[in-house]
Amino acid sequence: MTTQKEDRLVTLEEFIIQAQNRFPGATGELSQLLRDISLAAKIISREVNKAGITNILGYDGSTNIHGESVKKLDLFADSQLISALERSGITCMVISEENDGIVQLSSSGGKYIVYMDPLDGSSNIDVNVSIGSIFSIYMREPRFDQTLREEDALQPGTKQVAAGYVLYGSSTTLAYTTGLNVSLFTLDPSLGEFILSDRKVQIPDHGKIYSINEGSYNSWELGLKKYIKYCQEDDQESGRPYSARYIGSMVADLHRTLIKGGIFIYPHSKRYPNGKLRLMYECNPLSFIIEQAGGMATDGHQRIMDIEPTAIHQQTPIYIGSKENVSHVMDFLHEFAGKEEAEVEI
Ligand code: AHG
Ligand code: MN
Ligand code: MN
Repeated sequence: MTTQKEDRLVTLEEFIIQAQNRFPGATGELSQLLRDISLAAKIISREVNKAGITNILGYDGSTNIHGESVKKLDLFADSQLISALERSGITCMVISEENDGIVQLSSSGGKYIVYMDPLDGSSNIDVNVSIGSIFSIYMREPRFDQTLREEDALQPGTKQVAAGYVLYGSSTTLAYTTGLNVSLFTLDPSLGEFILSDRKVQIPDHGKIYSINEGSYNSWELGLKKYIKYCQEDDQESGRPYSARYIGSMVADLHRTLIKGGIFIYPHSKRYPNGKLRLMYECNPLSFIIEQAGGMATDGHQRIMDIEPTAIHQQTPIYIGSKENVSHVMDFLHEFAGKEEAEVEI
């Protein structure tokens, strides 16, 4: 990672004002959205930190629209983010992993559409392992008709105006981009403020860590099996074998990938023919961050952010991280496309 260190503390608020001053015509609305999200993030971070000592830990007994168990903290994070966005009246609708349809906010004339995964990595809540929140912001396309429809939200990732994540880890970190670099902030709990830790994070072009749930090995396509075998081979010159790291919270795995380089993969498999991760509130925002930091994100065939969405909760396979690692796995996928194991020795 290359860093641009500050010689004094810069708060998120100050950063927002500096950024706004650079664009004299800016309305400040997008800045307000970031303020809203950062406030919700502080509240969620506080709750995450005391999850073990309050009654908030554990299942709430219901399942979300995807049939997964919903934990109390997921619902807490969902409602905090929605009410923070409701407050400033500039967001017309929210699409959340925890809600089946679009959530219309009271300011139906608001310019922005926000996608979010309020609590990512929820299976890690009970075991005190890092979790996160992800958000992705779009402009509503202007129309005479003010009625809000799901189609308004079906825009490719290239149309994101901003995106980011909050990682509740050993410290709470906020990563944010508006398409001009990626900035990182760290929450100072004693000040209650996010402090700028890096204005321009750059992912290494190549990394020696691969991150994938290897339990599904048997149901991967051949090219992926071959690539993972390549990562595990002994070759001193190219620094292999690479290390395997898999946290099981996409935000945490991606944050490590951003800082240290390497690749994160969630492929299609027999169990998840279209991949497991959600295009609109997991893959697009994290792809925007990684691309802005100089990395790459594809679904194995095309750039994630070029995918034309057809449904708000659609899934996609994802190969994301350092440019060289992602290009390399793509070469393997192409070389072995359509081939069966019996034809090729693994
Ligand atoms: P969520 O908690 O929002 O449902 O997301 C969980 C996701 C993602 O964070 C992680 O990378 C992936 O599920 C892990 O899935 P596997 O357990 O199948 O590896
Ligand atoms: Mn998630
Ligand atoms: Mn989630």
